[in-house]
Amino acid sequence: MEDIKNGIIGELGTPSEFFEAFMSYIDLSKTSLFISAASILFNPTFWNIVARLEYNTHALTKIAGSAKKGCYALAVTIFSLGIVRDILYERALRDQPYCARLDIPPTKMLAVLLFVYGNVLVLSSMWALGVTGTYLGDYFGILMDDRVTGFPFNITNNPMYYGSFLSFVGTALWYCKPAGIVLSGLVLVMYLIALQFEEPFTGEIYAKRERERAAAADGKKSK
Ligand SMILES: *[C@@H]1O[C@H](CO)[C@@H](O)[C@H](O)[C@H]1NC(C)=O
Repeated sequence: MEDIKNGIIGELGTPSEFFEAFMSYIDLSKTSLFISAASILFNPTFWNIVARLEYNTHALTKIAGSAKKGCYALAVTIFSLGIVRDILYERALRDQPYCARLDIPPTKMLAVLLFVYGNVLVLSSMWALGVTGTYLGDYFGILMDDRVTGFPFNITNNPMYYGSFLSFVGTALWYCKPAGIVLSGLVLVMYLIALQFEEPFTGEIYAKRERERAAAADGKKSK
């Protein structure tokens, strides 16, 4: 017990010592760190603004010629922005200090586990939802027939967001870059903020359909 205390907890020091040590691995003089942070902030902001715009004005549907084409165009855009964000993240990590203490087999194993699990969550939810279900089809009026409840939605309501976050953490650990943990935290915060806007909004889109269905069923009954 004493060994554990001196060996692990003792090494971490007091919370403020740990914080100071952690911060020493974050190089704020590197522009790439802020470029990565900016793209992390930009992506969910962009798709929420564009999706609301589509919902209110049908701008993308008009430009693309149909709701489905508009949604596919948005899907390609969001997907590409995601790739840009991943590239900028890796570049930012490259410029950040490397922490030798993290470079041990358990960290590498955890990194692989988180990265693989995160990607399983992301890819399986894309598979379950399809393109329009994944990329904001509801805002275009392309609704899912039923709520998807199978894997990975029996693990979490938002497997894509949590999966993406876990992949970011896994990447940070793999390269032994504490700064990556901070950027991953920013990814999570942005997703949690996005959910505050998305969940009530899509909830209302589906509730509206339920009301319309119920009204249609009533109409049939009275005929
Ligand atoms: C979720 O569904 C999958 C596939 O149907 C199943 O294997 C898994 O045990 C389920 N997990 C939970 C937590 O219910």
